[in-house]
Amino acid sequence: MRVPFRRRRVISLGRRFTIDHGVFDPERHLSGVAFAPHLVDLVPIGSRVLDLGTGCGILAAAACTRAVEVVATDIDEAAVACARRNLADLEVDVRRGDLFEPVVGERFDLVICNPPYVIAPSDDLAYGSPDLLERLGREVRQHTSYLVLGYPADEASTLAVTGLPLELWREVPTRGRSLGIFVGRLR
Ligand SMILES: C[S@@+](CC[C@H](N)C(=O)[O-])C[C@H]1O[C@@H](n2cnc3c(N)ncnc32)[C@H](O)[C@@H]1O
Repeated sequence: MRVPFRRRRVISLGRRFTIDHGVFDPERHLSGVAFAPHLVDLVPIGSRVLDLGTGCGILAAAACTRAVEVVATDIDEAAVACARRNLADLEVDVRRGDLFEPVVGERFDLVICNPPYVIAPSDDLAYGSPDLLERLGREVRQHTSYLVLGYPADEASTLAVTGLPLELWREVPTRGRSLGIFVGRLR
């Protein structure tokens, strides 16, 4: 079941994003609109970046302010189509697939992810993807040694499932809860 959204528009860092029906709305909950401005401090200049689970493409667009090459992926066909349209002028390479499947064999200076955080079983992957964190923890080192993850600050303990050395870098107040921006320097 998909959460029914109207198609609507969101502004982030001076850009307008159209959010298609069924695509994760970055203004809801702890999401892209709160996360995106902080990437300006985290993305290395001239870097190659992967935005995993791009949704409407909001974090990929923020990464473009600093990176020279950005790949954005999502498992959801509607999200991929939405991100391609929103990012058309930025030359972001938007690919569809599960987790790292669209970037097999590729390395990035940084991987960004705002994962679905509803841990209860859900068949809407924009909200819940029960094993995503665990699989990300197992596979991410093949693709980067620098990870930035957005996650509810009060659920930081859930991130232990990744097995990664994630540190809370900044806590961003949002409506109701705080978004934690977690950074992992991976050896
Ligand atoms: C919380 S939304 C974040 C969207 C966007 N990055 C933002 O910050 O607004 C999570 C996104 O991850 C995608 N996703 C869920 N499971 C995935 C998987 N296994 N592989 C790739 N993307 C996945 C969803 O389709 C959704 O677009």
